[in-house]
Amino acid sequence: MKRPTVLACLAGAAMAGLAGIIGATTWSDRHAGVVLPEPALTQERIARGAYLARLGDCAACHSVPGKAPFSGGLWMETPIGAIFTSNITPDRRHGIGNYSLGDFDRALRYGVAAGHTLYPAMPYSAYSITRPEDVAALYAYFRQGVQPDPTPNRAGEIPFPLSMRWPLTVWRWLYAPVPQPFGAPPGMDAKLARGAYLVQGLGHCGDCHTARGPGLQVRALGPAGGTAYLAGAMIDGWHAPSLRNGGRATIGTWSEAEIAQFLRSGANRHGSAFASMSEVIVNSTRYMTEDDAMAAARFLKSLNDKPDGAAYRYDPATGLALRGGDARARGARLYLDNCAACHRPDGKGYERVFPPLAGNPVVAAAPAESLIRIVLAGTQSPRTPENPAQFAMPAFAWRLSDKEVADVVTFVRASWGNQAPPVEARAVGKLRRTNVPDAPP
Ligand code: HEC
Ligand code: HEC
Ligand code: HEC
Repeated sequence: MKRPTVLACLAGAAMAGLAGIIGATTWSDRHAGVVLPEPALTQERIARGAYLARLGDCAACHSVPGKAPFSGGLWMETPIGAIFTSNITPDRRHGIGNYSLGDFDRALRYGVAAGHTLYPAMPYSAYSITRPEDVAALYAYFRQGVQPDPTPNRAGEIPFPLSMRWPLTVWRWLYAPVPQPFGAPPGMDAKLARGAYLVQGLGHCGDCHTARGPGLQVRALGPAGGTAYLAGAMIDGWHAPSLRNGGRATIGTWSEAEIAQFLRSGANRHGSAFASMSEVIVNSTRYMTEDDAMAAARFLKSLNDKPDGAAYRYDPATGLALRGGDARARGARLYLDNCAACHRPDGKGYERVFPPLAGNPVVAAAPAESLIRIVLAGTQSPRTPENPAQFAMPAFAWRLSDKEVADVVTFVRASWGNQAPPVEARAVGKLRRTNVPDAPP
């Protein structure tokens, strides 16, 4: 890191620290956590905790393939250096075997463990609304349902002085909500309330689908935070689309049942999952009960926007032109030669095998990064019990130039009723440098 950057970070941290000390006197109580009675570790509670751990996707960050479940050690990048996730097995020395329920609650909902603030990579802001009975069930599961494992925690790679934790405490005071168990507004439909709780809380969908502010805080943690909530964001160079209901390029055209199907199987007739959403589905949402998936879908459908344009409507003109041999549009010839065999000239694909490109939010969303990356590097659908055959989309990086990728992508963005702006070769070149494996598969 360049020195001016370090100095700027330190100056910022010092100022924030001062503000924090002043604020501490008024805020510390609300963030301190409470002493809770130990719950009985019944089989029923442990099983419930196992399900909730799926919904919270704890394994995504705390389990590493090939190592004991929940033994931590996943490398996570932060703006100031890499950190490793913690061992949360009940091992007494290296895990959380000595945690009381109160300690567990403080880590999960307050972001505080062993007296220090956790990096917000642990989504405690979202988890802060978890209800006491669910915290107790998770605790029971991590005490009795998980095997203890003696893997020691690894120190992060953040250099001193940035590795000091007190600025994280200031961050928490400034940006984390005061933990409060979710309470549905009076009169709210029970299913909608269940969905609101799951999506905003353990599901932490907003950690990827809501844009972040200047302090890297998630801009809105729920509908009360305004229309930024779940309005779409870039995450690790992919576009996590808007999950709001309405306007263009959103899941507004999906029914509740289709959203639930996507969450439980990784695909529906509109599209299929890729990038980090594939992992979310494989580790977490595919375990949702039908009722919970439908509840989550109902909540998403309740996030109504004033439409920012007419909803998507299929336009048959492109398909008819291509079938009639008219390939004059920019990129049309490339589409016929490279894509139409699977996604078909009418852009409708084959249901649950080749996703449609017509009306697909991935294609029609204004940010083109996901679309370009998929064409360059290919992708594979997540494997789930409902989706046992894995279909692959081939990589085109070695077959098409930057200009050709830009042309074909521009074509699909403007066809069959899609109305997204064109893409230039420069944008493709930029992504090609970072996203293409070294050799053709
Ligand atoms: C998106 C990644 C992510 C997810 C999902 C996640 N965690 Fe974490 N968790 C972390 C990271 C990173 C840390 C370590 C932070 C640090 O060192 O400051 C952590 C720390 C913890 C700690 C503190 C352990 C200690 O003593 O240091 C506990 C307890 C914990 N997580 C429990 C959970 C549970 C339970 C779930 C699921 C409900 C969960 N986490 C989901 C990333 C995650
Ligand atoms: C780790 C980041 C991450 C988390 C957490 C996450 N998503 Fe996603 N999601 C993505 C990305 C990236 C995409 C784009 C790729 C795709 O469409 O599969 C996506 C796509 C989707 C889509 C398809 C939208 C479309 O227009 O095609 C739905 C629906 C969805 N997510 C729902 C959810 C729900 C509900 C949750 C919470 C339970 C959630 N996601 C949590 C990253 C995430
Ligand atoms: C051999 C068949 C095949 C060809 C040829 C092909 N695709 Fe695909 N494509 C797929 C499959 C299968 C998927 C779903 C992969 C997944 O689920 O991750 C897919 C996914 C996609 C997606 C993501 C849609 C979504 O909802 O997940 C886009 C965008 C896409 N293809 C565009 C193209 C373009 C543009 C071309 C031509 C340059 C092309 N494809 C050529 C098979 C193909």
